[in-house]
Parts: sequence; C-alpha cells; structure tokens
Amino acid sequence: MLETRFTAEYGVEFPIVSAGMAFVSRARLAAAVSGAGGFGIVGAGAMPPHVLRAEIDAVRAVTDRPFGINLLPRFAAREHIEVCLERDVPVVTFFWDDPPADWVRALDAGGVRVWIQVGSPTEAEAAVALGAAAVIAQGTGAGGHNRSVAGTISIVPAVVDAIAPTPVLAAGGLADGRGLVAALALGADAAVFGTRFLASEEADAHPEYKRRVLAAGVGDTAHTWVFGFDWPDAQVRGLRNALVSAWEGRDWPPPYRDLDAAEQPTVGATEVFGQELPLVRFMGLPPTAVTSGDLEQMSLLAGESAGLIEDLPPAAALVARLAEEARSVINDRLRD
Ligand SMILES: Cc1cc2nc3c(=O)[nH]c(=O)nc-3n(C[C@H](O)[C@H](O)[C@H](O)COP(=O)(O)O)c2cc1C
Repeated sequence: MLETRFTAEYGVEFPIVSAGMAFVSRARLAAAVSGAGGFGIVGAGAMPPHVLRAEIDAVRAVTDRPFGINLLPRFAAREHIEVCLERDVPVVTFFWDDPPADWVRALDAGGVRVWIQVGSPTEAEAAVALGAAAVIAQGTGAGGHNRSVAGTISIVPAVVDAIAPTPVLAAGGLADGRGLVAALALGADAAVFGTRFLASEEADAHPEYKRRVLAAGVGDTAHTWVFGFDWPDAQVRGLRNALVSAWEGRDWPPPYRDLDAAEQPTVGATEVFGQELPLVRFMGLPPTAVTSGDLEQMSLLAGESAGLIEDLPPAAALVARLAEEARSVINDRLRD
C-alpha cells in the first residue's frame, strides 16, 4: 500500500528516507534504517575519504540493502567520489553547493544515482540540468542548513511540477505517518525525515541534545545566521538556546564577524574522526555523543518537526511505526 515509484526503483520496502546529517547520521543509523526497509543516508560532512570508506563498509556489514552517502561539496573532494564509486554506493546526495559537473558525470557513468537537495523550483531545475536522478525538496521548516523559499506544503508540489517526471522526495517538518502520507499526497515519491531520526537510539547526537529535541514544541526552533564560523553563508534552523536567543533576528553578515577573539570563547570540546577539536562559539558543528561543554552555546540543529517528537526509539522500530501510522492514516482517515 505504501509502494511508490521510489520503492520500485530503489528496491526498498517503504518510501521512508533518513536524512544525511553530518556528524550525527553515521553508519549505525543508516544501516538500521535500510535494514528495516527504509533508505538510510550517512551524512559524510567533513569526513576524510578513509573514514568514508570505513563508514560504507560498516553499513554493508549490517545490511545488503540500498543506502546513500550525503556529501557537502565544500567539504568534499574528488577522492570522496572515487571512494563512492569504488565501493559501489547506490546513491550519493549533495546539498548546498552545486557538485562539479564531472563528479556527477563520473557517478552516473559508474551506476551511482545522484540526488540533490534544493530549496526552490529554480534550484530543482538546475539540479536536473546537472544530471540529478532525483531531487529532495526541502521546506523552510527543515532542520539544518536551509535556504528554502517556502514551506514543505508549497515547495513540494511546486518542485514536482517544475521537474516532472523526475522523482521528488519531500523534506522538512515531517515526523510521523501523517507527514509521510502528506508528502505523498503533495506529489513526492518518498519522505525524508531528519530530526525524527536524530531522536533515535542510533543517532550519534549528544544525549542532552536529543532530550531537548523531545522537550521542544513546534515553535522552539529559529532560522538564523548565527552558526557561520566555519561555514560563512550558513542559514540554519535549530533549537533556540541562549546563543540563538541572543543573536536571533540579525541578518547577514553574521554577527560574530565584528567580534574580537575574546568574544568568541571556547564553549566545549569534541572529537571528530579521531581528532580532538575545541568548539568555539558560532561553530556549526552539533554536539555528538563525545562532545563536552555548554549546549546553550552550541548549534542544536533541528526542524520544526521537533515539536512532534516525544520518544527515542530504535531506528528500525521507528521505520515500522512510520509505515504503520501511514497505513492507518490512509485506511482510517481517507474515505471514498
Ligand atoms: C542535525 C541535522 C544535520 C543536518 N545535516 C545535513 C547535512 O549534513 N547534509 C544535508 O544535506 N542536510 C542536512 N540536514 C538537513 C536534512 O537533510 C533535511 O533537509 C532536514 O532534516 C529535514 O527536516 P526535518 O529535520 O524537519 O526532518 C541536517 C538536518 C539536521 C536536523
């Protein structure tokens, strides 16, 4: 009943995709989602190529089902593409910057399907022109980096119309079976859930970060420029905390630009891919399981969907629940 063009084309059970989320959606989460019949994506973020290779192998050690790797072109190099080709990754997704055309051509020639996340119909048309096999339409309510021009309910049909018949996935504000059915009703072939899977056992987010997602209401996130220390044109949606509340409402250029070093203190410490890293105020890196410090001063990326999330299930149980809820929405709420 939940079969779509997406499930048929990618050979998965459900049109349920877990978003690529740098630092927090690692192999453990992606493998659990794919293993349960959804489609898991590893957020590679700033992962060096050898770590990326190990992550791909870690997914494959758990499941032989399809999964994806999310790359951010500004933090990636041709080597990352070579690793994905060498390891026969089914899908590579890109976001924010356009991937170089030769990366897309090489992936396509190697049988790796390319998806590009977009925030407007114009960006969607450019993605298709670049060779994307599918496009993720991200609405303004989505957690993480976000420069969408409209909410999910409007952007998804607008993108579907702009690039038909190219498959479209919907992202932003979706957290349960109602959101999944809504995404399909809007013309999407699958729904992408980010914050919902951030609040799962397998996500590598700090426990207090997860707790705050559970505690948040739908109005407790803000879209700001605050976290641009390491990503200057960053517009992100995340949970409001002391830092966000202090700087919310200010526009580009980001406020920290005028501050001296003393006003950009170290707010914590973390370990990234085996290396110790001090966390400086205004850095965009969200706190992971090994981060210590003051979460009131860190980037707690999350979508408006946080307001719909109240538990921390294992990801596989979440996939089954989303599918079950969607079936009952269709059976119980829609009548001839
Ligand atoms: C913690 C977090 C990190 C994210 N990191 C990335 C990323 O590295 N790459 C990417 O393409 N999108 C990233 N996103 C955005 C997601 O791909 C997706 O658009 C978003 O999560 C959908 O909205 P939702 O959180 O309401 O489900 C991130 C989102 C969150 C919540």
